Amino acid sequence: MSKKINTVHKNNSYFDFISELDKQFTNTHELSFDKILKQSVKIAPILLNAKICNLRLIDSHKRILTTRVSKGLSKDYTKKTIVAIGDGIAGKVAAIKKPIVIKDTATRRDIKFKKDIKKEKIRSLICVPILLKKETMGTLTVYGRKVGKFKKSDSTILMNFANHIAILIDNVRVHKKIFNSYMNTIKSLVSAVEARDAYTRGHSEKVTDYALAIAGVLGLSKEDRIMLTYCGRLHDIGKIAISDLILNKPGRLTETERAEIEIHPAKAVEILSNLKFLESGIPAIKHHHERYDGGGYPDGLRGEEIPLLARIIGCTDAFDAMTSDRAYRSRMSAEKAIEELKINRGKQFDPDVLDAFLGTLKDVSLA
Ligand SMILES: [Fe+2]
Repeated sequence: MSKKINTVHKNNSYFDFISELDKQFTNTHELSFDKILKQSVKIAPILLNAKICNLRLIDSHKRILTTRVSKGLSKDYTKKTIVAIGDGIAGKVAAIKKPIVIKDTATRRDIKFKKDIKKEKIRSLICVPILLKKETMGTLTVYGRKVGKFKKSDSTILMNFANHIAILIDNVRVHKKIFNSYMNTIKSLVSAVEARDAYTRGHSEKVTDYALAIAGVLGLSKEDRIMLTYCGRLHDIGKIAISDLILNKPGRLTETERAEIEIHPAKAVEILSNLKFLESGIPAIKHHHERYDGGGYPDGLRGEEIPLLARIIGCTDAFDAMTSDRAYRSRMSAEKAIEELKINRGKQFDPDVLDAFLGTLKDVSLA
């Protein structure tokens, strides 16, 4: 026992895994279903001082168990060893919802893939169900190369671990549901804003598409690109608090009206500040009207003080605004808008962001 515990402590993997996953609980971008599964087959064998592991999930329509992730097994084995519920060891474990410990795989009759097990040089195994609200969602199997490697007490360790996996998976599912309902709420808010002004319909989507093209050229991380998607869609959400009369005014805005429009980034922050998953994107929304030379709003930030995602959105927002009709003016041609962007290189726009954007525009039909 002490050897096992020492192994776990030495590697610290189990505790690292649990605390890392628990930390990421609220962040659905990082805590994914696949990540939990992959980490599980890494950690489970360490707990039992073994090296081989297999995690199967139930396909409830077909009533079969298929391997989703494994460690130390050949692809051939994991592809081949699909079992029906009630069939073979994993199938039995799934059906009875209790662990099974096999001391010697050569002498057990109910082992379904004996030849394949022999090929993998497996001599013992322990298989536990992954139970969620008393229903089997899968099985976790750890294999040994020696006869009699696992004891009954090992099944308690592995069962506890499988229970933790089930809770994490369930939480990810719940978070995904909450997240999707947030996104639907947000989408309907964006539509509500854009529906008030026929001229800006589809604006957020276009701003986002251009922004993602820039992100590709600049080599932004996946996390940044995901955040850019949200921020691009939401950057003008604060306009929901601005009067229709000002938003749709055909003529020039007065000082007071301009000041009212300029509170829309702050309003967006108010609306979105409770959304945990948007936390790192809030500064991008708040500062999308800053200028590279410091002449923008709300804070007059300059250069790299302005968050990168804000500099990107600022650039694509200006381009889409210039190339779209507005209540007070007709749209500019793409060529003319590009000239405007170039004139403002290093003034309104970050030169690197702008160069990346101009590069992407070459490949896009602007008609
Ligand atoms: Fe804006």
